[in-house]
Amino acid sequence: MNKKGFIFDLDGVIVDTAKYHYLAWKSLANELGFDISLEQNEQLKGVSRVRSLEIILGWGNKTLSQEAFDKYMAEKNDNYLSHIAQMDAGEILPDVPKTLNYLQETQQGIALGSASKNARKILRKVGLFEVFEGIVDGNDVSKAKPDPEVFLIAAEKLDKKPTDCIVFEDSVAGVTAANSAGMISIGIGSEDTLGHADYVFKDFTEIQTSFIEELINR
Ligand code: BG6
Ligand code: MG
Repeated sequence: MNKKGFIFDLDGVIVDTAKYHYLAWKSLANELGFDISLEQNEQLKGVSRVRSLEIILGWGNKTLSQEAFDKYMAEKNDNYLSHIAQMDAGEILPDVPKTLNYLQETQQGIALGSASKNARKILRKVGLFEVFEGIVDGNDVSKAKPDPEVFLIAAEKLDKKPTDCIVFEDSVAGVTAANSAGMISIGIGSEDTLGHADYVFKDFTEIQTSFIEELINR
């Protein structure tokens, strides 16, 4: 069987941490006197911590000194990490282990391509750290999604050509990054926001093993 590289985003694909990012940003915005809608939150998915705060401040028409900016960013991360501290394997999204197991059984390359600087910590919390042959996270890249850098480094770590890689992503920016990398993009979420992906599934419960097999043999 052909060996391919399967690259997973973390937040919102493997675990439902997207909801914790949202809660932490929302509480920060509320502190600054405005709110963030779920629709606005879609634009924050896959976006780095710094860039997220810049975008949010733009929505609220706020400017901050560098010192205050750093303080709010640290505060957001502390709030976020308080949610992460409670996590365990029960927060792995439905049927993600089924796909990971199948990829392991068929000896495919498995990597992580995440914008998060907390990615390694989260993988350890949910017991998936060992599953990934290559991990590329927010500490390893100089250009954030939608730049393809994160996925190109992941492909290198797996020793696979970009065209032999498949990316699972829940963010608009991440799907764009995968497409620019020349990889097959699989959107996890809604067709409305991820219509630019090669395939879109609501979640992993919709992904059949036969579909993965087809991707492997392509
Ligand atoms: C991405 C999330 O995976 O990581 C974004 O989708 C988040 O919402 C980004 O801002 C950075 O995460 P962290 O954990 O480094 O703040
Ligand atoms: Mg994500």
